[in-house]
Amino acid sequence: MRTLLLAVVLSLVACAQQPPQDDSLYLALGQQAGITRIVEGMLLNIAADPRIVRHFANVDIVRLRNKLIEQICVEAGGPCTYTGDSMEESHKGQSLTRSDFNALVENLQAAMTAQGVAMPAQNRLLARLAPMRAQIIER
Ligand code: HEM
Repeated sequence: MRTLLLAVVLSLVACAQQPPQDDSLYLALGQQAGITRIVEGMLLNIAADPRIVRHFANVDIVRLRNKLIEQICVEAGGPCTYTGDSMEESHKGQSLTRSDFNALVENLQAAMTAQGVAMPAQNRLLARLAPMRAQIIER
């Protein structure tokens, strides 16, 4: 009995020490299905964007799609693991600029709007991605 009580107390302490996972952004983006539609919408927008489409000419788009879905899921607090390369590794040598970055963000915003994602949720995702800019752009 005393051992059982000890086990219960220890598991309660363990629970209390783990901050609850905040998946509210993941839910606001429509979970896996919503994030998939957002990423695919963004890639379609990029395909029609003369400012940046050239960067994607020789890219394995299926891989990029899958890695972006994983990454956005993780950033939104969803139950995923990112298995792709680092942001530095995947963008090095592309000489990406601040304007390239902004163009991609615009395409992402348009895709989220098309999926009916509310503005506060859009801004939360962008705020999670913004710190990656330093690893992505070169000049
Ligand atoms: C917040 C901004 C961005 C995020 C979160 C992001 C995310 C990613 C991810 C997850 C990958 C896949 C890595 C892998 O294959 O393991 C990737 C690759 C790539 N990204 Fe980005 N990216 C961003 C900005 C940009 C911009 C601005 C451009 C160009 C205009 C760009 C062009 C590319 C290209 C061409 C690849 C494929 C590289 C290759 O396969 O060799 N990305 N990015």
